[in-house]
Amino acid sequence: MALVTVAELAQRAAQGGYAVGAFNLNNMEILQAVIEAAEEERSPVILQASQGGLKYAGIDYIVAMARVAAERASVPVALNLDHGTSFEQAMQCIRKGFSAVMVDGSMLEFEDNVALVRRVTDVAHAVGVSVEAELGKIGGTEDDIVVAEKDAMMTDPDEAAEFVERAKPDLLAVAIGTAHGVYKGEPRLDFDRLLAIKGKVSIPLVLHGASGVPDDAIRRACKLGITKINIDTELRVAFSSAVRDTLVSNPKEIDPRKILGPAREAMKRVVKEKMRLFGCSGKA
Ligand code: G3H
Ligand code: ZN
Repeated sequence: MALVTVAELAQRAAQGGYAVGAFNLNNMEILQAVIEAAEEERSPVILQASQGGLKYAGIDYIVAMARVAAERASVPVALNLDHGTSFEQAMQCIRKGFSAVMVDGSMLEFEDNVALVRRVTDVAHAVGVSVEAELGKIGGTEDDIVVAEKDAMMTDPDEAAEFVERAKPDLLAVAIGTAHGVYKGEPRLDFDRLLAIKGKVSIPLVLHGASGVPDDAIRRACKLGITKINIDTELRVAFSSAVRDTLVSNPKEIDPRKILGPAREAMKRVVKEKMRLFGCSGKA
């Protein structure tokens, strides 16, 4: 089937009380691991690429792989630009065939974030593409998006209501205590804040920086309105650990298939676990 929008998957998730996993990819093995996991779990799935992923793999390769994956899959698949930061980049991805874009204006002043997101949603909605925005600043590092701990800023529920009303995104990424990358200590999510945001806006909410967040916190976040959950770091850890193990036990191995194959399996295990945790298993 053709690529579907993230909004379609997130709205269904909101009605069903679960969240859909969004997994960052930048090569074939990651894509295959995610898609095979989704098929085996009978789960809807969101493939996404950050600016860094597009730079590394090339946008045409990312779109071509995702398109083939969606056509062959028996589960719904979306392709999302993750943490896009400009109107031009969002337009390029839409023209190339992305079914959804995140335009991350969280580094901008409130009014500039509203203006940027509204400009993108006006075009994206006209051509059937969904839009995710971010309000508040999620800490940590996601490729070239770096937010120091002192600059991270939680989402204000009242600001969120005004932002959604004016900018018209389909989904809102909220800052409630998660951060991108490997956590130093256990993240503490502000569930009261999440409940307050949920009470003020009616669109699906997105949790970034979900790698390393304890399972019970994830389950609680799903109950409080999170319907898209982003995972990148745990895939990177699974990939790199498997490659390291292979090369340590077989230092003379030179066949990429024997080096990357086990990494693909390791990532697939992570994705399946996440789909069960998010509740999207069996929801295709
Ligand atoms: O946008 C991507 C995700 O927010 C990555 O989060 O580093 O916790 O996997 P993560
Ligand atoms: Zn993110």
